[in-house]
Amino acid sequence: MNKHFKLRKALMSDVRPIHSLLNFFADQRELLPRSLSEVYENLQQFFVVTKDEKVVGCCALYVTWEGLAEVKALAVAPEYQGRGLGKWLLETIVEEARKLGVSTLFTLTIREGLFKKFGFKKAKKSVLPHKVWTECVRCPYFPESCIETSLVLHLKKKSQKLSKMAEAFMSTAEPMVPNEPSGPPVYPPEPPRHPSA
Ligand SMILES: CC(C)(COP(=O)(O)OP(=O)(O)OC[C@H]1O[C@@H](n2cnc3c(N)ncnc32)[C@H](O)[C@@H]1OP(=O)(O)O)[C@@H](O)C(=O)NCCC(=O)NCCS
Repeated sequence: MNKHFKLRKALMSDVRPIHSLLNFFADQRELLPRSLSEVYENLQQFFVVTKDEKVVGCCALYVTWEGLAEVKALAVAPEYQGRGLGKWLLETIVEEARKLGVSTLFTLTIREGLFKKFGFKKAKKSVLPHKVWTECVRCPYFPESCIETSLVLHLKKKSQKLSKMAEAFMSTAEPMVPNEPSGPPVYPPEPPRHPSA
């Protein structure tokens, strides 16, 4: 890793750069659009990578329920992609989740590749916590044009996994979204990979 990059918890002064970075990718339909107030309200959940104190990457960990947390808003500025910064952010988030005692991490993403390298496995959206849908209903692509795949990573052994209550919270008899797409999702084309610096 280039010594000029630093990874740290986000600060108040990072809010607008994080918001710009996330909405840059939202404009390309690669991430969900987020409001400035959402970034402020969830600032403590964000980590950033900086270069010369300029935010070039971010990622957030949101605790959702007992033993459960979501990886959100992973983004690296195009000119800094392909240098291991996304991996660094994800490693940090997974480590943070372990420290907090999270048993199961999940994410909704259109880019499965990086998450799969960390052992995330595909899961039907209907097995994710109901709370996830409260965010989905605010999404402009919900439900007909949903483009995200749900992925899950278990951090603890079976015996230490979710309590019965959390399991019940996660399971639904019926899909929450009646017209959740059943076929493979159609993703926007992968952006070209940038050579490592
Ligand atoms: C996804 C993203 C964060 C990756 O950031 P990055 O800094 O370029 O990733 P890294 O350089 O750390 O790559 C780490 C590994 O993942 C792989 N990888 C990165 N992006 C990938 C992708 N889209 N598909 C498959 N593999 C990918 C890399 O090849 C690398 O593999 P290696 O360790 O075997 O060399 C970045 O492309 C991005 O910001 N995309 C737009 C927003 C987005 O899609 N976010 C993810 C959804 S939440």
